[in-house]
Amino acid sequence: MIPEEKVREVAERISIVEVVSDYLLLRRAGGNFLGLCPFHAEKTPSFNVNPAREIFHCFGCGAGGNAFSFIMKIEGVSFPEAVKLLAKKSGVEIEERQLTPAEKKSQDEHTQFLRINNLTSAYYRSVMLHGQEGEPARQYLANRSVQSDISDVYGLGFAPDRRDGLVKHLRSNGVDMESALKLGIIRKSDAGWYDLFRNRLIFPIRDARGQVIAFAGRVLDAALPKYINSPESPLYHKSSVLFGIDMALPSIRTGNSIIIVEGYFDHLALYRAGVRNVVATCGTALTSAHAGMIKRHAERVYTLFDSDNAGNKATVRSMELFLEQRIPAYVISLPVGDDPDSFLATHPTDAFIALRDKARPAFEYFIRSLLLETPPDSVDSKVRIIDDIVPRFRKIADSVERDLYEKEICRLLGITSHAFRKRMGGGKLSQQETQQNRGTPVQSGDNIQDTLLALLLNYPDARAEIIRVGLETFFSDDYLELAGFLLDRLADSDSSMMLSQLTDSIENTEQKMLFSRILVSDRYIADIEWRSVLDQCTRSNEKKQVATIKDIAARLAVVSPGSDEYVMLLQQADSLRTRKSKL
Ligand code: UTP
Ligand code: MN
Repeated sequence: MIPEEKVREVAERISIVEVVSDYLLLRRAGGNFLGLCPFHAEKTPSFNVNPAREIFHCFGCGAGGNAFSFIMKIEGVSFPEAVKLLAKKSGVEIEERQLTPAEKKSQDEHTQFLRINNLTSAYYRSVMLHGQEGEPARQYLANRSVQSDISDVYGLGFAPDRRDGLVKHLRSNGVDMESALKLGIIRKSDAGWYDLFRNRLIFPIRDARGQVIAFAGRVLDAALPKYINSPESPLYHKSSVLFGIDMALPSIRTGNSIIIVEGYFDHLALYRAGVRNVVATCGTALTSAHAGMIKRHAERVYTLFDSDNAGNKATVRSMELFLEQRIPAYVISLPVGDDPDSFLATHPTDAFIALRDKARPAFEYFIRSLLLETPPDSVDSKVRIIDDIVPRFRKIADSVERDLYEKEICRLLGITSHAFRKRMGGGKLSQQETQQNRGTPVQSGDNIQDTLLALLLNYPDARAEIIRVGLETFFSDDYLELAGFLLDRLADSDSSMMLSQLTDSIENTEQKMLFSRILVSDRYIADIEWRSVLDQCTRSNEKKQVATIKDIAARLAVVSPGSDEYVMLLQQADSLRTRKSKL
C-alpha cells in the first residue's frame, strides 16, 4: 500500500506534459498540448494534454485521465506500479506503509479463499484421474474426445456422487467451513455440511492471473440443470469474469483480437482445434464490464454465438456494448444448427478460420437480421425498422463508418438520406458532421450538459445554485451520476490538482471519458457571467424537453392504448412534465 500523501506528493511534483512527452511528440495548441494518440491509430492529432488541469483526453478514442492513468494505460501497469514509476522519475521516495489491521484481515481472508479453491480443484481433479469413482467422468470425456492434455490445461475435475466428499477433504486440510461457505462450494443444513457439486464434471474458472476463483459443474447426462455455477462470492463476480482469459492472453496479445463464445465446451472445442484467443461468458449475458476488459486487451472482437433466436439477441445486445466502448466488433456465423463444438467435430480448423475471415461487422449483421425479421415492405414496417436502427446508429463513433451505413440503410429500405436524417433528429447530425468535415474533434455527448458540468466545476456559485435547484433538473443518465459523484468529492476540496486525481476514482468508463473531455476543453467557460450561461442552458434544456414531449405525443397517437409501450410512454411524458415544472 502506498500512503495517500505520497501519491499526492508525486502528483504535485510531476507535470503531465513532461510525462506524456516521454512517449509522444506534443505541440502547443492554445491552452492545450496536442499530439497523435498512442492508444489508437490516427493521422490527425486529437490527443489533448491540459497542463493547467494536469489531464489528458483523446477526442478520437475517448481515452483520458491524469498522469497516473496515462502510465497505467501505456505501460500496462497497475495504479501502485504507476505511482512508483512516476515517484522514481520525480525523486519522491516511497516506503510502503504498514497495512491497517482491517486491511491485513481482508488480505489474509483473500489468501485463505484462494487456498480453499486450490484445495477444491485439486480434490476434484484427483477424483477424476484416480480410482473407480472417476470412471464415469473419464468415460464422458472420452466420448467427447477430450484427451488428457486438454483436460490437463483446463484442470478439469469430477465431483463424486457423495454428499460431503469435498466437505471432508477441506476439513482434513484444516479449512474453516464458514470460509468455504462464503465461496458457495459447500452448504449448511440441519443435517450438517454438504457439497454444492455432486456427480458433475468440474470446470475451474480462473482469473487473468490463473487463480481459481469459482467452479462450474456439468451433468454427465441429459439431466437438468445442465450446469451449476459457483454463486457470486468475494472472489467471483460473474459479470466481470471471462472464462479462459488466462489461457487466451498470449494469443490475444499476438493477434490483437478476441473471440467470445457462450459455453465452456465451445471454448474447449476451439482451444482443442488450436484457436486460442477465445473467452466465454459464464452463464450470463455480456456486460459492459466484460466489454471494458475486452477493450483493455484487444483491438477487435468477434462474437460467436449460437445461430438461434437467443444467440441473435445476444449478438445484437453485445453489439451495442461494443459500439458504446468503440471496439470494432464482428460476427462469426456458423451454419444453422451448429455450435463451435459440433462444427469443429466435422470440419477442420481451416474451415473455421475461413468463417472467421468472413465475419461481418456487427452493425451490418444487425441490419440484415432486422430486415429478415421485419421485411421492409410497407411504410409502417420501414418506420419500425428505422426506429430500431436509430438509437444504435447514433452510437457509431466513426463518421466515415456512419456515412457508409447511412447509405446502406437508405439503399436497403429504399428511402432518401434526407428522410433518414430527419428521423434521426436532422439538425443535430448534420451539425456534428460539418464539425467533423472541418477536421475538428468529435464532440460526442450532450453540449448543454457538458457546459453545465463545466460550470459546476469552475464556479462555486453556479454549483451552489445547481444544488439548490436540484441536480436532476439539469442532468440525466451518466451526467447525473457523474455530477452527484463530483459534488460529493468537491465538498472536500477545490484545487484543480484534486480534479485530475478524481479520474482515478470514477469507475464507469463513459463517465471517465466525459470527465476528462470536459476538463481538457472547459476553457471556453473561463471568465464568463455564469448566471447567464446557466439560464441559457436551462432554456435549451427546456426546449429539448418540449420536443421530446411532442415526440412522445406523436408516438402515443399510434400505439394501442393499454399496451406496455403506451403505459411506458405515459410515464415518460409524466416524468418529463414534472422535471419541466421544476425549472
Ligand atoms: P450450452 O447449453 O450451450 O452449454 O450453454 P455448452 O457449454 O456448450 O455445453 P455442451 O456442449 O452442450 O455440453 C452455454 C453456457 O451457458 C451456461 C454455461 O456457461 C454454458 O457453458 N449455462 C447453460 C448455465 O450456466 N446453466 C445451464 O443450465 C446451461
Ligand atoms: Mn453450447
